[in-house]
Amino acid sequence: METRTVLVTGGAGFMGSWLVDELVKKGHQVVSADNLLGGSERNVNKDCKFVKADMRIRDRVKKVVKGTDIIFHLAAYAAEGQSFFSPVAINEINIVPMNNLLVEAINQDVESFVFTSSMAVYGAQKPPFREDMPREPEDPYGAAKAYCETMLEIFARTYGLHYTILRPHNVYGPRQNTADPYRNVLGIWINRILRNKPPLIYGDGDQTRAFSYVEDVTPAIANAAFHEKTNMQIINVGSDEITPINDACRALLETMRSEMEPIYEPARPGEVKNAYCTVRKSVDLLDYKTSHTLKQGLSKMVGWARDLGPQEPTYRLPLEITRKAPRVWVEKLM
Ligand SMILES: NC(=O)c1ccc[n+]([C@@H]2O[C@H](COP(=O)([O-])OP(=O)(O)OC[C@H]3O[C@@H](n4cnc5c(N)ncnc54)[C@H](O)[C@@H]3O)[C@@H](O)[C@H]2O)c1
Repeated sequence: METRTVLVTGGAGFMGSWLVDELVKKGHQVVSADNLLGGSERNVNKDCKFVKADMRIRDRVKKVVKGTDIIFHLAAYAAEGQSFFSPVAINEINIVPMNNLLVEAINQDVESFVFTSSMAVYGAQKPPFREDMPREPEDPYGAAKAYCETMLEIFARTYGLHYTILRPHNVYGPRQNTADPYRNVLGIWINRILRNKPPLIYGDGDQTRAFSYVEDVTPAIANAAFHEKTNMQIINVGSDEITPINDACRALLETMRSEMEPIYEPARPGEVKNAYCTVRKSVDLLDYKTSHTLKQGLSKMVGWARDLGPQEPTYRLPLEITRKAPRVWVEKLM
């Protein structure tokens, strides 16, 4: 494969840093741009060029895109549940960088643009979600992703940009931010158990998800930019092992050999009950393969989290609306 100069936004984050490693391993020149809002310098690959930059700032984006052949845009604040209560800040972070990157991609003749969207764009439709279902987001995070997808399609159509929209779902594994009380259920539980606090479950725990291990998802994401067959495609990426939240919690408690019982909190407003996707297209177009069961993935993530140690919860973005917000967030009980 011909090597390329590749920009990964959000490259110090969880999925972005795994992607940078994969692209570096394949011999590409990788530029990783991240403002460290949710990511960490400890995730930065020593063989990439790391630029601390905020993709909301036009001039920074212009400089960072210079010389780039391919953009993987992962930078975001992926707090879906919190997005009801912090829509101003979260929309700005999740929308403005896309517009800046698209303008520079066109002006600087970028070849290919891969965007990590989310299954949040499907909203509360009946799962499994298929790529040809309409966008019907139920929350501001999903609405911002739907906006970004649409903008990418419009720009690509108008200017002939190769693009792929990926919709990963419930990705977990080492390097996930475990200090953020607002997002990533497995990371939040692991951190609570490490701090001798029982895991919290919102609602009855019968919600279903398909948890996807990061080392399974990463090669598929990396593949998206390099093949003609992925051009103009929307592709779900991740596992089809459907797991109720109660079962995931039990599996984690077993993995961590904890005797604790979960605490049940009232359901969160707007949380989609059942969310999982068809995966056929990612198998066909991206060579996606589920190589880790949830138990296997959890065991790797727990090993990593134990080495990192318990993290002090960090409330990054303040709640702009507190009405109907979970009390554990309002009262910072995490
Ligand atoms: N983790 C999942 O389950 C999942 C599922 C579907 C989609 N996604 C999407 O995948 C992408 C990566 O998610 P993740 O779980 O790795 O999250 P993450 O928070 O670990 O990574 C996002 C990175 O973006 C950076 N960032 C945020 N705003 C920025 C800005 N304005 N400029 C520069 N950098 C900025 C953060 O510092 C962070 O390092 C996101 O777009 C997310 O919406 C994640």
